[in-house]
Amino acid sequence: MKFIAFNVRSDEEKYFKAWEKQSDVQVECVAAPLTTEKLDGLAGYDAVLTLQTGTYPEKMFEKFKEVGVKVLSIRNVGVDNIDLKAATENGILVTNVPAYSPNAIAEFSVTQLLQLLRNTTLFRRRVAAHDFRWAPFVGKELRSLTVGVLGTGRIGRAAINIYRGFGAKVIAYDLYPNPELKKEGIYVDSYAELFAQADVITLHMPATAADHHLIGAEAIAQMKDGVYLINTARGALVDTEALIAGIKNGKIAGAALDTYENESPIFNHDLKDQPLKDTVFKELLELDNVLITPHVAFYTETAVENMVTIALKSAQEAVTKGTTATLVNQ
Ligand code: COI
Repeated sequence: MKFIAFNVRSDEEKYFKAWEKQSDVQVECVAAPLTTEKLDGLAGYDAVLTLQTGTYPEKMFEKFKEVGVKVLSIRNVGVDNIDLKAATENGILVTNVPAYSPNAIAEFSVTQLLQLLRNTTLFRRRVAAHDFRWAPFVGKELRSLTVGVLGTGRIGRAAINIYRGFGAKVIAYDLYPNPELKKEGIYVDSYAELFAQADVITLHMPATAADHHLIGAEAIAQMKDGVYLINTARGALVDTEALIAGIKNGKIAGAALDTYENESPIFNHDLKDQPLKDTVFKELLELDNVLITPHVAFYTETAVENMVTIALKSAQEAVTKGTTATLVNQ
């Protein structure tokens, strides 16, 4: 059996090599992303492993079928960039890694909120300029706040546990409530109810067409004054221009964004010698109370190892058995 993995970073390579050694599968690692020009070269490979940072359109799956690739195994959770219908129509099995480390993302989102609440960026900037005064950057404690968690899947639940550890009051909303959490009475009945009560809103839901720009001008108007927004989920959930307006008029006290709706040409690229073309993103970068990180909430040693090894195992199982527990197009 032969696999080819694209977008392989240096921090992933050792996990690919270790897995290959203990299996009977040959795995070729390529640093570059999978692009349409490379599709003809895929003949002879049973599975393709990628990260969901590009798009996976219909013509890609038609080519997979033509050259004999049976499986697309993505080393992450989200499948919003993949034309799953086209994959199914072409008989290609798509697998993901639904739980490589929910804690990695949950911990990062809490980290970012704490930085906002304690004004660490502002203090760091002051200290760098040898200004060691305190006022006016007095902080807030989590135990005095209500945290509204949107999405109570694995990541949302890990975040809830952490917030509870800090003594925060936690409320949540999910179209598909978790039975255990429901018993605890954590859920409110609507987005509007959560917006009205939460001092902090943290997003832990997938991006669907129905939730595109969920956090837009109308939602922001329903929120408490001085609300904090944390997005480690998907950029498309937030209308960035509405968010910028909310920050500028003081409705939103701070935002931490690890995802951005047009992030693909920016995140995980070194653009220091190039002008930033995206004017909305540039405006975000200039705001003092917005923390931007380049989609790194997932990026821990535990998560990276799991992403690689689970994706490989899923691909192997899908090729040999025609199915696997992490199949997403069935
Ligand atoms: C995901 O797992 O869906 C992520 O957002 C991580 C990223 C590397 C694509």
